[in-house]
Amino acid sequence: ASAEKGGFPSFMEKEIHDQPDAVLQTLLGRSDIDGKLTLDELRIDPALLKSVNKIIVLACGTSAYAGQVAKYAIEHWCRIPTEVELSHEFRYRDPIVDANTLIVSISQSGETMDTLMAVRYAKEQGAKTVSICNTNGSTIPRESDAVLYTHAGPEIAVASTKAFLAQITAAYLLGLYLAQLRGNKFQGEIKDILADLGKIPAKIQEILDNEEPIKELGRSMADAKSVLFLGRHVGYPVAMEGALKLKELAYIHAEGFAAGELKHGPIALIEEGQPVFVVVPSPRGRDSLHAKVVSNIQEVRARGAKTIVIAEEGDEAVTAYAEHVFYIPESPTLLAPLLATVPLQIFALALASAKGYDVDQPRNLAKSVTVE
Ligand code: G6P
Repeated sequence: ASAEKGGFPSFMEKEIHDQPDAVLQTLLGRSDIDGKLTLDELRIDPALLKSVNKIIVLACGTSAYAGQVAKYAIEHWCRIPTEVELSHEFRYRDPIVDANTLIVSISQSGETMDTLMAVRYAKEQGAKTVSICNTNGSTIPRESDAVLYTHAGPEIAVASTKAFLAQITAAYLLGLYLAQLRGNKFQGEIKDILADLGKIPAKIQEILDNEEPIKELGRSMADAKSVLFLGRHVGYPVAMEGALKLKELAYIHAEGFAAGELKHGPIALIEEGQPVFVVVPSPRGRDSLHAKVVSNIQEVRARGAKTIVIAEEGDEAVTAYAEHVFYIPESPTLLAPLLATVPLQIFALALASAKGYDVDQPRNLAKSVTVE
């Protein structure tokens, strides 16, 4: 069993360490050297894809957070209105779907019943369906018009890690491909983003090579009763995924919030010693998001929070208000989730391990939920 785990104590730890390869394998063979996407495997008539006027991403759990990340990128590159919805909510609310709707389902297993039922329903309404899936030949890709596989390799631990990064990668490739087909003003950006995506595996490796301090923090917080996570823009779904990992593995109350929403409610939760993770956007990003999130760190810190900050290398602005800072390598804002998620996974793993829990098979959870 130890060999199967690649020498790691758990499948989850192995799978966290598989992530550079999961992203690399998902990128391989899908673009040429001129920065053109070549998704021939997507056997949907390009003319049909061009006529898409709405995208709905359907998924559950961690896969739904991958969808939420992808929405920011797809809308930016493709200018197609994109919704992300939990499969079980979509299916039963009389959604508006027609032949110009592209359904993108995201599922690691390809067997999640809620997502399968949602895809079937959308097909009945005439929508085109693309599946982003990690399991060859599973039901959801078989029932979809097309599939874009994530090549993360088998994921054994119940809580998803490497599949999540591979899903974001695949959804980004799909978004870039649609942008390419539609020939909009982002053509130059497509090439740059592809080149930047190619650099992500080495950057993930850099985080993994320096994981000891975040592990140490996780071990030291085994008694935490509640942990909050704040993020903005693509950092928001990353915050929710960080909270989910902690719920799943360590059975701790954890909540992810949009940083901008803090003052509309969650700040009331802050009291002396409350741990708050803050996912900080790149200071080089647009729209002064960075400054806004830094002021959120100040606000919670002033009320006694124990602030734990994930920020980009070289970002000095956060240090004054952070009890702990973990730096991730530089990347364009849209790619940062592929990096910022990793320390949060390592934190949850270390904390749950310190409590003596089985991180591969958390209580009450199943890897693949095949009932509605
Ligand atoms: C279960 C698993 C989660 C997973 C979710 C969606 O709840 O415990 O880790 O994110 O299902 O699974 P899928 O296979 O559809 O991605």
